[in-house]
Amino acid sequence: MGNTFLNLALLIIFQFSIRATFSMKLTTILTDQSALLALKNHVYDPENVLETNWSSSTHVCNWFRVSCGSKHHRVTALNLSGLELVGTLPPSLGNLSFLSLLSITNNSFHGRLPVQLSNLRRLKHLSFGNNSFSGEIPSWLGSLTELRSFFLDHNNLKGVIPFSLGNLSKLEILNLSGNQLLGSIPSSIFNISSLQKMDLSNNMLSGSIPSVSHDLLSIELINFQINNLTGHLSKDMFDHFPNLKELHLGANMLSGRIPMSLFKCKKLQRFSLAFNQLEGSLPVEIGNLSMLQGVYIARNHFEGNHTYY
Ligand SMILES: *[C@@H]1O[C@H](CO)[C@@H](O)[C@H](O)[C@H]1NC(C)=O
Ligand SMILES: *[C@@H]1O[C@H](CO)[C@@H](O)[C@H](O)[C@H]1NC(C)=O
Ligand SMILES: *[C@@H]1O[C@H](CO)[C@@H](O)[C@H](O)[C@H]1NC(C)=O
Ligand SMILES: *[C@@H]1O[C@H](CO)[C@@H](O)[C@H](O)[C@H]1NC(C)=O
Ligand SMILES: *[C@@H]1O[C@H](CO)[C@@H](O)[C@H](O)[C@H]1NC(C)=O
Ligand SMILES: *[C@@H]1O[C@H](CO)[C@@H](O)[C@H](O)[C@H]1NC(C)=O
Ligand SMILES: *[C@@H]1O[C@H](CO)[C@@H](O)[C@H](O)[C@H]1NC(C)=O
Ligand SMILES: *[C@@H]1O[C@H](CO)[C@@H](O)[C@H](O)[C@H]1NC(C)=O
Ligand SMILES: *[C@@H]1O[C@H](CO)[C@@H](O)[C@H](O)[C@H]1NC(C)=O
Ligand SMILES: *[C@@H]1O[C@H](CO)[C@@H](O)[C@H](O)[C@H]1NC(C)=O
Ligand SMILES: *[C@@H]1O[C@H](CO)[C@@H](O)[C@H](O)[C@H]1NC(C)=O
Repeated sequence: MGNTFLNLALLIIFQFSIRATFSMKLTTILTDQSALLALKNHVYDPENVLETNWSSSTHVCNWFRVSCGSKHHRVTALNLSGLELVGTLPPSLGNLSFLSLLSITNNSFHGRLPVQLSNLRRLKHLSFGNNSFSGEIPSWLGSLTELRSFFLDHNNLKGVIPFSLGNLSKLEILNLSGNQLLGSIPSSIFNISSLQKMDLSNNMLSGSIPSVSHDLLSIELINFQINNLTGHLSKDMFDHFPNLKELHLGANMLSGRIPMSLFKCKKLQRFSLAFNQLEGSLPVEIGNLSMLQGVYIARNHFEGNHTYY
């Protein structure tokens, strides 16, 4: 009885693995080819770049701005930046399962990001900057956990920054600048210890800057300027950013004093706090920052007559 059951189970597993192998062979470069042809059919291509370069008569791996892996011969990089393409992203793009780099910067793609892109589990670089994508930043982006760089700057995105982005634990560069993002900065963002550059400038973000509980040893640049951020900067905030080089918080509604911890960031080159409601004064410890090149603190409620330094 036990044996029969075991045999039956083995048979099922065996059949399943045959089918799995068979279907894996079917998802080959032909899958990639049909995904790219679907993309070609989704866009208006005024310079006829794809029209002349992407034809079934040549191998996909030789197509313009397409790269393949040397072992498996599947598409690993697609870089269509600056080709004046107009259109939407087709769901089948999510079938490019070996894709590691996807850049469509500087085009006129619009519409929403198709949920099928969440299948691109190997993606390391996603560059969608300077397009016309709309809707909200989808929370499934938090499942692309291999991402190192993520650009969605200069689009028409609305709504809040999803908390799930805090799950992108290998992320180094995040740029969401130049959208119409609302709500507060999710505290999960400061959980990404690999972050080097974070640009959330030119949005409509509000609330206070979340408190930081982990050290971000890699962070060099924080840009939250031109938003609607309020509240005080927490006293120990900059203790967590010992390698900070640039801080841009200008044109918000921040109040309170500049935390002394900022002046412990020995590598600081530039900081801008202009156009806020900060008070107090610049401490003498600013003299300890030997790398400092630019300080912008005009239009605050500081004591004395500070303008630009
Ligand atoms: C690809 O398109 C570019 C720009 O239109 C053109 O200069 C180039 O010759 C094309 N390459 C191929 C292989 O068709
Ligand atoms: C994409 O291609 C353009 C033009 O060749 C190049 O300037 C750009 O650096 C490339 N981007 C990436 C991420 O490889
Ligand atoms: C690719 O993706 C589309 C839409 O997500 C799907 O309909 C299609 O069956 C997928 N598979 C292949 C092999 O193209
Ligand atoms: C956006 O892309 C267009 C080309 O599509 C280019 O002319 C423009 O300079 C780009 N803007 C930015 C801010 O990069
Ligand atoms: C986008 O266009 C701008 C302006 O022409 C250029 O400076 C930038 O390098 C381009 N970005 C990419 C990724 O090609
Ligand atoms: C983010 O994108 C904006 C606008 O496209 C650009 O000006 C800025 O330099 C970028 N910041 C980073 C850190 O890449
Ligand atoms: C983040 O990842 C954890 C586990 O890796 C998962 O349990 C959680 O649901 C994810 N959170 C979001 C908001 O996606
Ligand atoms: C930060 O990550 C830790 C685990 O690494 C998790 O327990 C915590 O909930 C996260 N906090 C936020 C705000 O995402
Ligand atoms: C900033 O907040 C104030 C007060 O809550 C509001 O009146 C204003 O419209 C906001 N501005 C932006 C750009 O979000
Ligand atoms: C600034 O340097 C002086 C000595 O030059 C030192 O006593 C002081 O602790 C330093 N302050 C900060 C905030 O690092
Ligand atoms: C600030 O400037 C005004 C006018 O230039 C001057 O009357 C005043 O004494 C100055 N205050 C301080 C604290 O230097």
